[in-house]
Amino acid sequence: MNILVLGTGGREHALAWACVKDSKVNTVFVAKGNAGTAHEDKLQNVDLDMANHTAVIEFCQANDIAFVLVGPEAPLVAGIVDDLRRVGIKAWGPTQYCAQLEGSKAFAKDFMKQVGIPTAFYEVFTEITPAKDFVRSKGTPIVIKADGLAAGKGVIVAMNEEEAFSAIDDMLSGNKFGDAGSRVVIEEFLAGEEASFICMIDGDNILPMATSQDHKRIFEGDTGANTGGMGAYSPAPVVTQQVHDKVIDRVIRPVVDAMKANGTPYTGFLYAGLMINDAGDPYVIEFNCRFGDPETQPIMMRLESSLVDLIEAGLAGQLPSEAKWSDKVALGVVLASRGYPESSSKGDVITGLDETFDGVKVFHAGTKQAGDDIVTDGGRVLCVTALADSIKDAQSKALQGCQAIDFDGKQFRRDIGWRAIAR
Ligand code: AMP
Ligand code: GLY
Repeated sequence: MNILVLGTGGREHALAWACVKDSKVNTVFVAKGNAGTAHEDKLQNVDLDMANHTAVIEFCQANDIAFVLVGPEAPLVAGIVDDLRRVGIKAWGPTQYCAQLEGSKAFAKDFMKQVGIPTAFYEVFTEITPAKDFVRSKGTPIVIKADGLAAGKGVIVAMNEEEAFSAIDDMLSGNKFGDAGSRVVIEEFLAGEEASFICMIDGDNILPMATSQDHKRIFEGDTGANTGGMGAYSPAPVVTQQVHDKVIDRVIRPVVDAMKANGTPYTGFLYAGLMINDAGDPYVIEFNCRFGDPETQPIMMRLESSLVDLIEAGLAGQLPSEAKWSDKVALGVVLASRGYPESSSKGDVITGLDETFDGVKVFHAGTKQAGDDIVTDGGRVLCVTALADSIKDAQSKALQGCQAIDFDGKQFRRDIGWRAIAR
């Protein structure tokens, strides 16, 4: 069987890598992929623009594609799943309607309010003065978010009024986030520990993926600007069985039931970004309509079931309630290029990729082949992911891999997993 994965990042490398472990699979095409997917056995990059749905459909028809696995949010929000299904091509992901849970923070917030899913209070503003008045009335810390897609970077956790006002000015009068910033969501600051809770959903059945925790800030100690994620590990001990049950009962099941009752069943991956408070109660910070990046990388390292079988079961509306996971811990450290997250540096030659370490897999993200070299081609370049018996071992193995690889301007955090280690 052939599969088409849409996307270019580390998540897509890990998903494609997991798919080809299944011997049923002949080729996994990746559009457009990166230098990592280009060199992997049974993976093949294709120069296909995922924004061109007609071209994607024609490719699927010409290459006997069993199903399309959509990695990033943009094509989902643009309705790629609807367009593929309309012509009878199987696609794993939510419809355009359901993808609004990620595509519009205002939609997600209204949905949560209506369904009764725990989340921070919020208001949506398009004008500067009422937005600042709201901040004055609520006090700080407070969180200012661009409505719309900003790749995880359109969020400012403002510790004082000055920071809040400057974020509001940037988003509503400046052009920092383009159209994504023409509305802002201002919301209550939630205290606690974050976790990523990702499930597969087939419209009705829920299959939770292994738990994980991301590290959003650029610098060690969770300081500096928000990024798409600088590293992740699985499992996340903050998600105890009790917390797990609460997340299913209070967050995931309500989404699935409400979407089903609305005649718009949710299918595909659903990612709840959670804040878990001291009492172990989960609050939703955001929904994503896809797998997380870099959470995918460690989670796929631990998956022992066939991802292809799970997706096929999902497409048939027959998801099992559990998958098989390694008891080991997986931890991924992102190597980012100079300037990330504000900018990125392209074309820097990457060395050390040939060195291998037992239990370590290097997933590519922003990389490309340039003649004989592999060079940087984006903000997040690689995710060095290790599988080991303990979180500490996984961290030190991943860091060993990070030291072996080099490129001009390389940045990475040495403290990924610190919360789990501190426990
Ligand atoms: P988001 O893109 O909405 O996931 O936000 C990015 C990051 O900002 C989150 O992972 C949190 O670390 C932080 N954040 C967002 N909303 C809140 C909130 N209401 N309270 C505290 N931190 C938040
Ligand atoms: N790592 C966060 C995300 O995928 O949104």
